[in-house]
Formats: sequence, structure tokens, C-alpha cells
Amino acid sequence: MELKAIYQSVKQDLAKVEGQIKTVTEVDFPDLAELLKHILLGGKAVRPALTFLSARFYNYDLDLLLPMATSVELMHTSTLVHDDAIDNSSVRRGRPTVNSLWGEDRAVLLGDYLFAKAGEFAALTGNLRVIRLFSQTLQIISSGELKQTFDAFKLEQSRERYFERITSKTASLFSLSTQSGAILSQAPEESIQALKGYGTNLGIAFQVVDDLLDFTGTEGELGKPVGSDLAQGTLTLPAMLLLEQYPEDNPVRELFDNPDMPEAARQGKIKRAIDMVGSSSVERECYKVASDYCDKARRELESLPDKPVRKTLVEIADFVVSRKN
Ligand code: IPE
Ligand code: IPE
Ligand code: MG
Ligand code: MG
Repeated sequence: MELKAIYQSVKQDLAKVEGQIKTVTEVDFPDLAELLKHILLGGKAVRPALTFLSARFYNYDLDLLLPMATSVELMHTSTLVHDDAIDNSSVRRGRPTVNSLWGEDRAVLLGDYLFAKAGEFAALTGNLRVIRLFSQTLQIISSGELKQTFDAFKLEQSRERYFERITSKTASLFSLSTQSGAILSQAPEESIQALKGYGTNLGIAFQVVDDLLDFTGTEGELGKPVGSDLAQGTLTLPAMLLLEQYPEDNPVRELFDNPDMPEAARQGKIKRAIDMVGSSSVERECYKVASDYCDKARRELESLPDKPVRKTLVEIADFVVSRKN
């Protein structure tokens, strides 16, 4: 199912998030306005949609939900700006990255600006629990991205470490998105915890699929480069499975053992690893792992009131494993 169809029930409110984001770009500083306009377009808006949908079970108060949904999208975008600067990446949302057009320094500062703007929107909810969660999430994401840099080019890594990393860097923001919707709609604690669990498991599945698409996707579909995780020395689940299945003569091992290899040789190894994922059981195994997390996410919904939005959240879980971008 297409995201557009899944979002139908929150379509108008997502359009309002776009309106809020447009106001963010209206600053009296033309260079900054240009940077903001450049990056704040073209995302899938999964996180703000989750905030709205998670609030549909109880008291849906748009005055609180709109700033929060805007906040999670801004926080997400700021992490992308920083992530691309760290990864020296060239394409994002189908356009050249901020770091490639304006340089790393501006990318760092723009990311900071967006983080602060996200904080301002979170504060507009006036809800201390949500504001505290917002700050904690930012710490968790940063520590996840830090762990990734410290783990770079290490071949011996446990599955637990991988899941710990992706839970921090990605699932924590999915969980903030769902939890904040629940809290701001005055859901009972049990429902807040269920939506927290749903968001966390969905976020893990989302990142597992992202890590697979880094091998099996195309830049045209994804709007960002493929093969970039191996180039950065990031050991993701597909790469771990390749190492297990091909202990000898393995391009991942060769890449990680020689981080300074010439660019042409590096591209050759990455291409070989991509071909090996395509011709082995790795793709199927990754989808199985992602589907298992989506099943866990779906099971969390069972304790929630039986409202139509439950089906929408199930459809988002289905989308996460079928998505091509
Ligand atoms: C990309 O997230 C970063 C990851 C957590 C993998 P999205 O795929 O949601 O990015 P946009 O917002 O649609 O560009
Ligand atoms: C993104 O993970 C996580 C963030 C916190 C930004 P990735 O590094 O896999 O995201 P992409 O593939 O660049 O979007
Ligand atoms: Mg990245
Ligand atoms: Mg990725």
C-alpha cells in the first residue's frame, strides 16, 4: 500500500505540519532561508504521521499535536543533515546534500539550528514529560551515531551491538513520535507503553530495511546513495550475514581490513558485496528479521482501543517491510 493512501486520515494535519515547516524557512536572513528551504522538502513524513495517529485513540488535540509533529520532523531532518556531513554523503531526498553544496561547517551549524527549532516546537506543547523525552531522545540518537563511529571498520561485532546501535539512532525517534502522541492525547499509562513498544519495534524494522536497501536499492528510488554503509565502515545486518555465509574470500572483510584502499578498488569490493547480497539468502533473512520486529510492533497494538486507527498503524508496519524508499 502507498503511504499516501495510508496517511488519508491524517492528511490534513500533515499538510499543517508542512505549513509550520514553511514558517521555519521564513527567516530574515536569505542565506539561511535558502539552506532551510533546500533541506526541509521531500521527506516521507513517517514520524509526524506516527505522532498524529498515536493520538487518535484518546483526546485528539491538534493545538498540542501540531507543534509536536513538527518537532519530530525537524529533529529527524537535523539528524539527516548531521549524518550526511559525518558520512560525507552527496545526495539526500533526491537533491545534493547541504555538506556537498555549502560545506561541512554550514551543515553542522544548520543541523544545530534545526535541533534548536525542534526544541522550540516541543516546548510549545507545554508538557514537561514530552519535553524531557525530547531531550533524552536527542541524547540517545547522538550516542547511537557516536557508537557507530567508534564501531567503524570493526569486523568482530555482535548482533546485540548492532541492534543496540539502531535502537538508539533510529528507533528512539520513532518511539518519541508515538509516545508523545499518546501522552499529549491523555492516554492511560498502559496505552503510552504499548505505543512506545510499537514505535520502538517499528523503528528497528525500519532501520533493518534501510540497511538492506543500502545494498539492494537504487539511488533513483531512495534519493540517497547506495553502498554507503560499507564505504563508511558501518557493519550492518546484511554485511554481518555476508561475513557469516562467506567466511573466506569476502569483500566486506577485505574492505574493513584495508580502510585506505584506493577508491576504484573500494568501489569494486562494494559492488561485489551488493552482488553477493542479491545472489544469496541474505535479503530474505533481513526481511525475516524486519518482519519479526513488525509483528512485535503489531502485537503491541492489541491492548489499545479497537478504533480504525489501529488498522492504519498495522498498514504502516506493512509499509515498512515493503517500501522501496
Ligand atoms: C532516513 O529516514 C534515516 C533513517 C532512519 C534510515 P527516512 O527514510 O524516514 O527519511 P525521509 O524523511 O523520508 O527523507
Ligand atoms: C540514519 O541511519 C540514522 C540517523 C540518526 C540519521 P543511516 O545512516 O542508515 O541513514 P541514511 O541511510 O543515511 O538515511
Ligand atoms: Mg547515513
Ligand atoms: Mg542508511
